[in-house]
Amino acid sequence: MILVEIAILALLFSVAPLVRAVPFSPKLHKNTALVLIDIQNDFITGSLNNSRAPTILPKVYRLLDDHEWPFIVASQDWHPEGHVSFASAHPEKVDAVNITFLDTPTKIETQSLYPDHCVPGTSGAEIEEGVQTRLHYMEGYRTPVNYIKKAQDHSVDSYSAFADNQYHRFTTLNSELSLHGVSTIVVTGLITNACVRGTCIDGIKLGYEVVLIEDATETISDSIKASTIEELERWGVQVMNLSNWEAANPTHLKTRALKEL
Ligand SMILES: *[C@@H]1O[C@H](CO)[C@@H](O)[C@H](O)[C@H]1NC(C)=O
Ligand SMILES: *[C@@H]1O[C@H](CO)[C@@H](O)[C@H](O)[C@H]1NC(C)=O
Ligand SMILES: *[C@@H]1O[C@H](CO)[C@@H](O)[C@H](O)[C@H]1NC(C)=O
Repeated sequence: MILVEIAILALLFSVAPLVRAVPFSPKLHKNTALVLIDIQNDFITGSLNNSRAPTILPKVYRLLDDHEWPFIVASQDWHPEGHVSFASAHPEKVDAVNITFLDTPTKIETQSLYPDHCVPGTSGAEIEEGVQTRLHYMEGYRTPVNYIKKAQDHSVDSYSAFADNQYHRFTTLNSELSLHGVSTIVVTGLITNACVRGTCIDGIKLGYEVVLIEDATETISDSIKASTIEELERWGVQVMNLSNWEAANPTHLKTRALKEL
């Protein structure tokens, strides 16, 4: 009798891994999240448009179409009307204002001012259609997507998708990344010297490996882009173009044959 039970247990243990194991997709980048920063209409065709922004789209589509990720993050600037970063909210018509920190009145930060942008309910706040369509498809299929709606606080701006500019409040991004076992973030999006920069630097501060895909991010000029990339490399961000990144991360090596399970 005992022998029979042992035999049954042995059988259960031998098949259990087969039952539980889900084969890795041959395209999956383990422990790596794709981070799409502010790929919103206002930064492409709207109030903060620049003619270089649309050139990133084919690269971003390729990262979504040809690769699979355990986790994808899409951030959106998400400002209430009259936000502190809107020039329209400051009657004195200047390029920047000094504001005091919410928590520490003795500390000051300089807030740049912009045209109104990314107000919820406007098309400018929406994620570019080709990217959004792909995200909806992937969410419904098998990839968790976390939308970070940042800078909702009326009186403090947020460039980074991790936290606002005063580290007054953090978004859910860091917790979500750790819950999904992510150690590397692959960053893309708009614009290089503001929200992409802030997210990359916070990623480094929080201990992630940060890769910036240089042809999947843009800003208003070559020189601003180059000086931002130099600064980010000093922070320890790995900057590479998409072809080089794909060559360094060949997904076929991650394929596991069924017999190994
Ligand atoms: C694009 O930006 C320019 C300023 O750089 C602005 O004059 C123009 O109105 C913007 N276009 C749209 C569609 O908002
Ligand atoms: C902000 O404060 C700094 C240091 O006090 C000063 O140099 C700068 O001109 C101020 N900027 C604005 C926009 O008021
Ligand atoms: C990517 O960078 C390498 C140099 O590191 C260069 O040879 C190659 O042409 C670049 N590819 C693209 C698409 O820019």
